[in-house]
Amino acid sequence: MENPLQVGEPLSLVTICLDGYGLGQLRNSIASLPMVHLRAEFQHYLAQNDDQILLERADIYVIDFDQNREEAVHTAERIHEVLGRTAIFALSSSSEPLLIIRAMRCGCSEYLLKPVNHDELLKALTRVREQRKEKREHIRGQVLSFLGVKGGSGVTTLATYIGALLAKVHNRRALLVDYHPELGDAAFYLSLQRHHYHFYALAENAHRLDADLLRPFLVQHPSGLDVLQSPDGFDPPYGQVSAEAIEHTLEFLRGRYERILVDCPPGLDKANMAIIAQSDQLYLITTPETPALRHLIHHLDQLRSLDYPRERVRVVVNRHSKKGGVADDQIERAIDKRIYWKVPNHYAEVMKAINTGAPASLSGSSELMSSLMRWADALTAKQPEAAKGKEAVKPAASFGARAGGAAR
Ligand SMILES: Nc1ncnc2c1ncn2[C@@H]1O[C@H](COP(=O)(O)OP(=O)(O)OP(=O)(O)O)[C@@H](O)[C@H]1O
Ligand SMILES: [Mg+2]
Repeated sequence: MENPLQVGEPLSLVTICLDGYGLGQLRNSIASLPMVHLRAEFQHYLAQNDDQILLERADIYVIDFDQNREEAVHTAERIHEVLGRTAIFALSSSSEPLLIIRAMRCGCSEYLLKPVNHDELLKALTRVREQRKEKREHIRGQVLSFLGVKGGSGVTTLATYIGALLAKVHNRRALLVDYHPELGDAAFYLSLQRHHYHFYALAENAHRLDADLLRPFLVQHPSGLDVLQSPDGFDPPYGQVSAEAIEHTLEFLRGRYERILVDCPPGLDKANMAIIAQSDQLYLITTPETPALRHLIHHLDQLRSLDYPRERVRVVVNRHSKKGGVADDQIERAIDKRIYWKVPNHYAEVMKAINTGAPASLSGSSELMSSLMRWADALTAKQPEAAKGKEAVKPAASFGARAGGAAR
């Protein structure tokens, strides 16, 4: 029978404090498994203020529990706490039941006795693979579309920030789709290599989509965010993919990612509506100036005339400033809808993030970062999102109850 670890999705491993013999054994065991990669080897346990080990975000962490049991327990606990879905294997020469129980309690799913038996290791790796598969079969991810009411509203900026935060801080399986039929900026903003394969080519092959077909299309940002890029030129013209193919592609992606963020080009044409129709939420991004607000009103009207469910639309005011721009209450009156989120104007910080390709930092000290972190928190919260941030002054569902208000 075919070894399940020789095909399918890759599994990455990180080792912590393994000695030379243990490492050699592990390398030998996985040498014949092309889908299992040893990503990093650390010779120290997780120290305070040192996120290097966590940033590797491997599928499996193999920790030697013999060198320092207390530090090994602390390391496993932190990995378990921060990277919830990561598997942890404890390695030890002691088979004392109390030690095994302790390792299991701090999040280890396997306790492997030294010297590690090749077959035992393979069984443990296969169990991780099977659990991942089972989990994925139960995922039905949300599609969150970001659409500017006009060009330059900040769509790519916000989608890349939020996507990276979901992946890095919230440890979610997150995907960013650059839906521009040509020259999308997402890869550039994330400092990713331009990739030959793009979303439209994937959607054109919707009828034969599976994990093997998807893999070469993805590029991963260091935050853990996967990206499906846009075509990097004008020729041949894309955007002619049918709405059915888009629906099918999104359906497939929903089974693999918890959050799928879509960076849409401006407009409510047929191509954009194919994505918007499938979205759980549509974030309409505006800036607080009169010309943009005129566009915002037209967008809301058009969506209403298309019978698009109004509770799915959330208005985000980007580049918000307390001093300049149209006042919030004026905006809300004009659109007869509450502003869902306000993202502060912070050009220098945004440009720095674009230039370094690093939109998500683990600390949210600036006003911009803390607003975006709260937005990302709201997107992962169990309770209704709108209840979380103070910007979300009223849940979308309550707009229908406004006396005399147009049904938007
Ligand atoms: N909150 C913000 N504060 C300050 N500057 C911002 C903010 N958000 C975006 N910008 C700046 O606005 C400009 C446009 O942003 P971005 O490229 O994200 O917009 P877009 O809607 O994706 O544009 P396009 O229509 O070209 O795709 C960029 O220079 C970006 O740095
Ligand atoms: Mg853009």
